[in-house]
Amino acid sequence: MKVVLAYSGGLDTSAILVLLRKKYNAEVITVTVDVGQEEELKGVEERAYLLGASKHYTIDAKKEFVENYVFKAVKANALYEGKYPLGTALARPLIAKKVAEIALKEGADVVAHGCTGKGNDQVRFDLTLKAYLKPDVKIIAPVRELKLTRMDSIKILAENGYEVPKQHKKYSIDENLWSRSIEGGELDDPFVEPPEEAFEWIQPLGKTPNEPLYLTIEFDKGVPTKIDGVKVDPVEMIKILNRSVGMYGFGRVDLIESRVVGLKSREVYEAPAALTLIEAHADLERMVLTPRELRLKRLVDQVWTDLVYQGLWIDPTRVHLEKVIDSMNNYVSGEVRVKVYKGSLNIVGRRSAYSLYRREVIDYNFGWYPSDEEARGFINIHGLYALTALSVRGSK
Ligand code: ARG
Repeated sequence: MKVVLAYSGGLDTSAILVLLRKKYNAEVITVTVDVGQEEELKGVEERAYLLGASKHYTIDAKKEFVENYVFKAVKANALYEGKYPLGTALARPLIAKKVAEIALKEGADVVAHGCTGKGNDQVRFDLTLKAYLKPDVKIIAPVRELKLTRMDSIKILAENGYEVPKQHKKYSIDENLWSRSIEGGELDDPFVEPPEEAFEWIQPLGKTPNEPLYLTIEFDKGVPTKIDGVKVDPVEMIKILNRSVGMYGFGRVDLIESRVVGLKSREVYEAPAALTLIEAHADLERMVLTPRELRLKRLVDQVWTDLVYQGLWIDPTRVHLEKVIDSMNNYVSGEVRVKVYKGSLNIVGRRSAYSLYRREVIDYNFGWYPSDEEARGFINIHGLYALTALSVRGSK
């Protein structure tokens, strides 16, 4: 049996690798997809071979992740339940696609992943894998199937003579360029404030600089292209913003999240670049889109976001939605000035060649002014239906 395993290098997928070899006598090929999880990538290949992988692939998908997934999320102002910028949800379909490509190339019989039966990731992995794999390739999720706990994983490694990673991690972390998700430990009590040690990307307020950080972010058709007038490569753009904005203490999220599988969970994230870019992008949209476009956009954005969260990247609806999203983003070009200070972010300026804001019209002191008659006529007709309803119903 030839298995291709989506391998993060963490405890669970390491235990799965050993289990597949020892218990099922399988040949295991490991695939690690680099979506910017810097810490986790260290030593992954060595570990895979040490644990008996017959072959290992590390695939650098950072550029593809940012250009084809993250920037689509920016264009859609994607914040699930108003707060979570979808880091994990965006990366999973790409990881699954890359793993499926290797499975195809290697002629694997089975594809394995490390998702549990309680989370969202199993939905995202299974569905995307199904879309890319031949139907006779089996998808297995040993953690889900055997209900493995972290203790079980430690046991499997120890029993087979492998060293268990010493720095036993307190939290379950999922990291990529777009967000760092922190689950478990005391965070499982939703009334407990996340301790500073849970965070790695964002400085505690006490350590942030005493002067604000000003950034000018330029967008071209909805995509961020420049910082302070300098063109920046897409992957670098995210890294720079994570680092700089994180240093000023902004980018934490703490929310009670509705999972795909009917459960509520307490989720904590760090996402400085994501929250900055979405804030800035949405602000620019308010300047360049007509009121009705803006309202339609917010509805479409939400459908797109829910779909991606729910593991339905493969749903053709997404592509239809993106037509509308892109069509409106044709006008989302311009600059946004952002001020970050002591954990808060404010948009303090914006300008665009497509701006619908007309200073000479809005200013009370000069320029266009409707006549009293024009204004009265407009108001009468505007509220006519409401006044009619009130008089018919006799109530206010
Ligand atoms: N709740 C987030 C999501 O569903 C993050 C999940 C983190 N995944 C993980 N395997 N730790 O997108």
